[in-house]
Amino acid sequence: MADKKITIKDGQSDNEIDLPVLDSILGPDVVDIRSLEKNLGYLSHDPGFIATSSCESKITFIDGNEGKLWYRGYPIEELAKKSNFLETAYLLLNDKLPNKTELQSFSSDISNGYYVDESVKKIIKVFNKDSHPMAIMSACLSYLSAKYHNEINIQDIEYRYKSTINLISGVPIISAWILNFINGKDFTKPNKSLSIAGNFINMAFSNLNDDQKKLSSRAMDVIFLLHADHEQNASTSTVRLSGSSETSPYAAIAAGISTLWGPTHGGANEAVINMLEEIKNSDKDVEYYIDQAKDKENPFRLMGFGHRIYKNYDPRAKIIQEIAHEYLQKLDSSNPNKPLFDIAMELEKYALEDEYFVSRKLYPNVDFYSGIVLKAIGIPQCMYTVIFALARTVGWVAHWNEMIEDKNFRIGRPRQLYTGKDKTSYKDIEER
Ligand code: ACO
Repeated sequence: MADKKITIKDGQSDNEIDLPVLDSILGPDVVDIRSLEKNLGYLSHDPGFIATSSCESKITFIDGNEGKLWYRGYPIEELAKKSNFLETAYLLLNDKLPNKTELQSFSSDISNGYYVDESVKKIIKVFNKDSHPMAIMSACLSYLSAKYHNEINIQDIEYRYKSTINLISGVPIISAWILNFINGKDFTKPNKSLSIAGNFINMAFSNLNDDQKKLSSRAMDVIFLLHADHEQNASTSTVRLSGSSETSPYAAIAAGISTLWGPTHGGANEAVINMLEEIKNSDKDVEYYIDQAKDKENPFRLMGFGHRIYKNYDPRAKIIQEIAHEYLQKLDSSNPNKPLFDIAMELEKYALEDEYFVSRKLYPNVDFYSGIVLKAIGIPQCMYTVIFALARTVGWVAHWNEMIEDKNFRIGRPRQLYTGKDKTSYKDIEER
């Protein structure tokens, strides 16, 4: 079969060039425009990267129209049901599910890595208790980038493996310490015999009984798994771009944390809880809020509905909805979060039947339910994005490793459409 190509004709000069079309396994094929400037003298322009593939990747596949999210080819639904966060982390990093020996070895590397330099506690204590935890988290990662600065050797597989394990094992411990700190508690110790989620729950909620810890650990493990990767989103692209300068992986992850912090990326589940609390405390019913969201004169939007990529049900939302049901049912019926969950269910029912939401394909997204589950577990709202960052660290390091191994690896350097002044002569201040 002849190689696929797209022919572009310059309407001004009549020059014509062929651009190769690269095959993707799934999703749209991609036009390789690298020769465009050399042969026709043009650049491509795509603010927000709406139509631009920035790299070749084998890690995650999303089909937003079909509501598909696959890690290394495995549907997220199957992984959430049959796998766990640790095994999924191995899968994201290695392109295959581990056999027993591989999983044992990975698991012991991770739990042996449940160690973070004690000085990180000093870094945390420098902050005020009401500082945003994402700022504290980013500072802790910056500290680690200084600590391990002399070791940087990104082309060395052993260095990359060591940093990968350090990050996946260490970030949950840092997160638990940040939670200890903002709750005004002493820093707790990690327990090597526990899973990543189990250890986090144990460190964060040492006062819970074993059954409560088990229940919360299972819910947390699924939340971690669902958030582990989401292909080339803003924070992952940041980690890639930052890492492409061959900086420390700890510094690149700190950059990813800063990007994830923003309300249009990682902060939406906080907004969902605020909205549900507002509805709970108001004398208006759910229908009133649905009408507000539909009113074009009103800026109010139903938080947790709609997604830039998913124009069908977000597959993660379905899974987390089940977890929310299961988790809240097992909790005491007097749990203060029950009314919030009931409001969420009512909102969802209305929205899924309403022509406004149906015609715009506005379905509940993962944030719609994750906030409720995190709240029920006892995580303070300001920590929700930290939980997201903890889980996404796996995806970030998987992409960082993949980028360095890529034969096309080079520093990322976007171009621009310059619309500023042409050459201008300097005027003395008296003449301006
Ligand atoms: N409530 C009411 N109407 C909405 C909502 C909503 N939550 N979301 C979109 N719409 C409407 C828009 O007003 C627009 O209507 P129109 O066609 O009549 O003008 C139409 O649906 C399309 O909306 P866009 O803003 O163009 O969709 P886009 O894909 O750009 O936005 C976004 C997606 C930002 C997620 C949006 O749906 C939203 O603001 N949702 C609420 C916030 C939220 O939940 N964010 C979390 C995203 S998930 C994540 O980051 C992990």
